[in-house]
Amino acid sequence: MSKIAFLGAGNMASAMVQGLLAKQVAAASDLTCYSASGNSSQRLAAATGIRAAGSITELLDGANLLVVAFKPQLLAALDTAFIAGTKGKLVLSVMSGKTLDRLQSAFPQARNWVRAMPNTPGRIGAGITSWCAQSPLSPVDRAIVTSLLGALGRDLELSESAMDAITAVSGSGPGYVFEFAAAFCAAAEAAGLAPEQAKTLVVETLLGSARLLARTGESPDTLRDQVTSPNGTTFAGLSVLRAADFRATLRQTVLAARARATELSQDA
Ligand SMILES: NC(=O)c1ccc[n+]([C@@H]2O[C@H](COP(=O)([O-])OP(=O)(O)OC[C@H]3O[C@@H](n4cnc5c(N)ncnc54)[C@H](OP(=O)(O)O)[C@@H]3O)[C@@H](O)[C@H]2O)c1
Repeated sequence: MSKIAFLGAGNMASAMVQGLLAKQVAAASDLTCYSASGNSSQRLAAATGIRAAGSITELLDGANLLVVAFKPQLLAALDTAFIAGTKGKLVLSVMSGKTLDRLQSAFPQARNWVRAMPNTPGRIGAGITSWCAQSPLSPVDRAIVTSLLGALGRDLELSESAMDAITAVSGSGPGYVFEFAAAFCAAAEAAGLAPEQAKTLVVETLLGSARLLARTGESPDTLRDQVTSPNGTTFAGLSVLRAADFRATLRQTVLAARARATELSQDA
């Protein structure tokens, strides 16, 4: 793996660094990070053995790839040192809502630009990251991108036109699942279980159901029907979800997140 520079050293950069090191895709000596205050970069360097750069020049020196992992609103005030500093380098952004054209205008001398949307299960290598590139990637750059994103879990190349929907589904999705899990735990307690029992049962039920869905390849509707006998317990529970139009709520949830992603991608 070539030398990688991380602009930002927060949650997402840390997940990527930890994944790269755990999967031995890169050595600590190949990775450098930089943050404005130096606080998070020093923390990440101390935790992983990578280098914390003291300046932008030091960050970019010898790097082949720049990973942009700070907050999207910071791009507007990007230090001009990044313009010449990324000449001929590959730039990969994980910022929500920043389009490939916007990346190209911020780093105009880079050799190519990749926009990626990871998600937080990437912290344990169980994420899914969708990505797209401004120009077709060379075989070498494709290998760099897929190894880097593969450190977070699965990766999927998709068209940029799908990015707002992807953000609403897999980027924000863990938030919906955790909200569902919290509500499920509270309901389990209301049904008479102790908090620890409730949590164990909910976590294992979510994990097992997701694995069954992935492994069998059967549709969620088929698997649901296999647990639902006419007038049985699941039938009674599902009747309540149906009466409350659970599916309409979820559709509105995803569409609201997609609309917000579209709004954000129109900001400079
Ligand atoms: N977390 C998610 O679920 C998720 C999912 C998909 C995409 N993303 C994207 O990932 C990006 C990073 O998110 P995050 O959750 O990792 O954020 P975070 O934990 O808040 O980290 C932000 C980092 O940016 C640094 N920083 C702040 N100002 C800076 C500046 N002017 N120059 C250089 N570094 C600066 C901070 O460093 P100091 O505080 O040390 O200054 C910190 O290391 C965002 O663009 C977000 O859209 C996140």
